[in-house]
Amino acid sequence: MPHDSHTTHDAAEDTRNKDIKIYINGDLVHRDDAKVSVYDSGFLLGDGMWEGMRLYNGTWAFFDEHMDRFFASCKTVSLDVGLDRAGVLDALTRTAKANGMTHDVHCRLMLTRGVKVKPFQHPSLSRSGPTLVIIMEHSKPVNSLQSEGIRLACVPQVRGLPTSQDPKLNSHSKLNCVIACLQAEQAGADEALMLDPHGFVNTTNACNFFVVRKGEVWTSTGDYCMNGVTRQKVIDVCRQDGIPVFEQNFSLYEAYGADEAFLTGTFGAQTPVASIDGKAIGSGARPVTARIQQLYKALVAANTDRK
Ligand SMILES: Cc1ncc(COP(=O)(O)O)c(C=O)c1O
Repeated sequence: MPHDSHTTHDAAEDTRNKDIKIYINGDLVHRDDAKVSVYDSGFLLGDGMWEGMRLYNGTWAFFDEHMDRFFASCKTVSLDVGLDRAGVLDALTRTAKANGMTHDVHCRLMLTRGVKVKPFQHPSLSRSGPTLVIIMEHSKPVNSLQSEGIRLACVPQVRGLPTSQDPKLNSHSKLNCVIACLQAEQAGADEALMLDPHGFVNTTNACNFFVVRKGEVWTSTGDYCMNGVTRQKVIDVCRQDGIPVFEQNFSLYEAYGADEAFLTGTFGAQTPVASIDGKAIGSGARPVTARIQQLYKALVAANTDRK
């Protein structure tokens, strides 16, 4: 069967998204009018942090975990959020209300160091406070992601040491990931599989990466990848369900030879991997991935069942 190209963030077309309202520093404006300054630190330098979250039944899934990461990232780069968690939740609630959104919604919450007085790098040039932007869209991953899976290519671009740019920082500057994704596209794949500086399989350009071998679930040590909320939830549900799960080093040898492989991320939950470097993964049967998907779905439902 021919395989159309995908990205891990393919969503079903929804015309309602043409008229959404965007939150910018307390204002809610139509997407066509939603603009930030060309002097903004995010535009000039990629100097900002973001979170991708999903709304189900009027509740943000794993809100506390996303806020833990967001506030820790901002603290690491001395970026004052200017709001506490309740303030962030209030901004999210206002945006969802203005858009009449309660379910199957994806949000990108972004905070930059704000408008600079000169178009140069020094953080002290950002003097008027941060810029907070919230984009919310009606969003459902397309079904073909599940049936066909993602084709990965292992690329030369690696995930770096925490001493260059800590991969745990969910920063606006995603050039490392974008370069990896371009390399994967040039290799004829959908997305990039990235190694760590020692050559072990680490993560993908936009999601975390897992393999299943002989009933065991493996992912990287976590030292060089995004500390994905979904990654941790998958590890948690495996432990609770008695599925052996390991955070450990492994190489392409074990990835190519896996019975199943999948990606994790807030948007797509668990997305199957069809192939790596043109080599099909397993037989196409995915019983462990299916079980984890079931467990994760139940966890999201339990976490968002409050309203
Ligand atoms: C590079 C990268 N890896 C993994 C993830 C998945 O993280 P999460 O499961 O928290 O959505 C993201 C999401 O922002 C990411 O940017």
